[in-house]
Amino acid sequence: MSKKVSFGYVGCGFVAQKIHIPNFKGLERCDFKAIAEVRQDLGRRVQQKYRIPKLYGSHLELADDKEIEAVGVSGGFHAQGEIARDLLEAGKHVFMEKPMAVSVVQAEKILEASKKGGSRLMVAYMKRFDPGYELFKGAIEKYRVSGELGELLYARNHGFCGDWLAGMQDTQVEGTDEPYPPSPPAPKPPWLPEKLYEKYVGYLQQYIHNVNFLRWVLGGEVEVKHADLDRDGYTGVVLMKVSGVRSCLETASTSFHGWEEHTQCYFKNGWVRASSPPLMLANMPAEVELYFGRGQRSYVKPVPEWGWSYKREAEHFVDCLLSGEEFRSPGEDAVRDIEAIEKIYKAHLKDVGVLG
Ligand SMILES: NC(=O)c1ccc[n+]([C@@H]2O[C@H](COP(=O)([O-])OP(=O)(O)OC[C@H]3O[C@@H](n4cnc5c(N)ncnc54)[C@H](O)[C@@H]3O)[C@@H](O)[C@H]2O)c1
Repeated sequence: MSKKVSFGYVGCGFVAQKIHIPNFKGLERCDFKAIAEVRQDLGRRVQQKYRIPKLYGSHLELADDKEIEAVGVSGGFHAQGEIARDLLEAGKHVFMEKPMAVSVVQAEKILEASKKGGSRLMVAYMKRFDPGYELFKGAIEKYRVSGELGELLYARNHGFCGDWLAGMQDTQVEGTDEPYPPSPPAPKPPWLPEKLYEKYVGYLQQYIHNVNFLRWVLGGEVEVKHADLDRDGYTGVVLMKVSGVRSCLETASTSFHGWEEHTQCYFKNGWVRASSPPLMLANMPAEVELYFGRGQRSYVKPVPEWGWSYKREAEHFVDCLLSGEEFRSPGEDAVRDIEAIEKIYKAHLKDVGVLG
């Protein structure tokens, strides 16, 4: 690989315009050469705005461009796994938005394509690149090893969400009246009743972040004990063991003005907590707090570095391609998240009597 990564991007939708295209464009070691967008009028406007040399009408045309080594993808929940599969098979390294796939079956096909193409896949789990969350994970690992805070009793992940845009105005992105392209058929979970597919994908696309985050912080496998979700298939509480630690995931669709998402790990003698900023609030890291309840009682609020998780994940992708280092969120690891979400949804459907 050259000293710069020769890069292309598929999709010019909201996430591409607001996050990934400007982020990759701003990286010194990324040579941003092409975009692909089915909606060509939108593609042209984004191409001009960011001065990108080439515009293609689909990801397959971009896959044929021999000059491109690596590709970013944000193509919608259903389409992007199939787009990534084609690109990986064509030998392009891929940085893709979550969810990697809508089923384990599809995820495995994507990994097969990457083996076939000799290409690498990174899934864009930006929480793993937030400086506050890095600090949080470091603290949990430190106290688990040192035993200073006693046994790790419980991990609570609260994801009631709200306004992730932090009041951002719609006028900042290019829009279009062109019809939205149909999604290629993606293999669905074979056990899932068709009429519940949209609900399942709604839960998957949001809470895959939280499952991935808990797995990253605690390590190990996810064992689902109970899933208590409402009829909306979204709001509720899931009890799990993650790496043997009792954990819960609290979910809901709210219309809160802020962004309500935090993770708290309770040890016998204290706790460590981190709270997400609204995701689009660039350069604001997660807030971290530590409470020590034994002996000399204290409460500490360390100050993480400034830094935007989305920008840092783009940088990581390019740096790893140039250095050959492992990705922090490789495709092989991301399959475990789809597996966990399938387990949660199966448990929910058993609980409400839909599955036996
Ligand atoms: N990490 C995060 O915090 C976060 C937040 C929001 C969304 N997302 C993810 O980002 C993804 C994209 O979301 P979005 O809101 O930008 O979607 P979007 O629908 O606005 O954009 C997708 C674009 O891809 C284009 N497209 C589809 N198929 C194509 C193809 N074969 N070739 C070229 N272009 C093609 C569409 O025309 C569209 O413009 C979603 O899967 C979502 O899960 C992640």
